[in-house]
Amino acid sequence: MTTTHRIAVIGGDGIGPEVIAEARKVVDAVLATASGSTVEWIDYDLGAHRWLEDGVVLPDETLEEWRSLDAILLGAVGDPAVGVAAPAGLVERGILLKMRFELDQFINLRPFHFADGARRVDFEVIRENTEGTYAGEGGFLRKNTPHEVATQGSVNTRMGVERCIRYAFGRAAVTERKLLTLVHKKNVLTFSGDLWQRTFDEVAPEFPDVTTNYQHVDAACIHFVERPEQYDVIVTDNLFGDILTDLGGAIAGGVGYAASANLNPARTGPSMFEPVHGTAPDIAGKQLASPVAAVISAALMLDFLGEADAAARVQKACATPEKYSGSTSDIGDAIVANL
Ligand code: IPM
Ligand code: MN
Repeated sequence: MTTTHRIAVIGGDGIGPEVIAEARKVVDAVLATASGSTVEWIDYDLGAHRWLEDGVVLPDETLEEWRSLDAILLGAVGDPAVGVAAPAGLVERGILLKMRFELDQFINLRPFHFADGARRVDFEVIRENTEGTYAGEGGFLRKNTPHEVATQGSVNTRMGVERCIRYAFGRAAVTERKLLTLVHKKNVLTFSGDLWQRTFDEVAPEFPDVTTNYQHVDAACIHFVERPEQYDVIVTDNLFGDILTDLGGAIAGGVGYAASANLNPARTGPSMFEPVHGTAPDIAGKQLASPVAAVISAALMLDFLGEADAAARVQKACATPEKYSGSTSDIGDAIVANL
């Protein structure tokens, strides 16, 4: 069906704007041939540079505007200069985490596909995206005294865990291997781990075709490096998912190819799509960054918007990203030529 998708776009900082420019180029080109749909891109000037300029991080009015849009495409935000003037991660938390929480993007989907000689990486991580240690529970007592206490709790609700696990089962149910691995640390995190495992076991009978498995997160780190081909779909909590997906990037050709989707599968708000990599300030503005992760993130967006054919074409053009070389925009042009 031909339609106009209304998409907020945030280039952000560092290499963000460069890679997002290529992702937009690819989306416009593929839609023109695949479905005839178009995109109304709505630009937002946000990121560390904006905070340094006038103190704006993410206004509530902007967040409200986004609620009526179809999706958000984001490059990368953050700048080491912010850390000097403000608490570390101010902009990352103020934009990324605020968006994930307020728009209820409760799934962080991160696919890893890469083949290199004998090693085959072909799996996806479903990371819970609104709870756990990211929920901000905790605080200081007697701050800046020798008796200071700092606590940082992990919030795990039955509702939050269950909707994430059910989504992961749904993904595993449509893959070829139909294997879902729960990753946690239930030998030590006996409360949250117990809730995750119990919920997992209770949802499993709804998906009789899916084979289930469990691994402790430390063991999973070894398996990621030594035997990544065993995985199909992985489901895990917010912090374990954050760490594991950086490792996933490292074993799948580098974080420069790693894409992500912050999904609100209930569609009560727009979902957000972003490369896993950061702002890479050392190479910013030089057309040296690969736009592949941003382009694959845009493919995830197209798929979520119902543009399955366009999404498949972009994925196919990015299947062997090592073959692309040249400047950021050369690579974008080459992907367009391969659609
Ligand atoms: C990620 C990032 C973020 C996270 C940071 C920038 C807040 O590392 O998307 O993986 O920890 O979730
Ligand atoms: Mn991370």
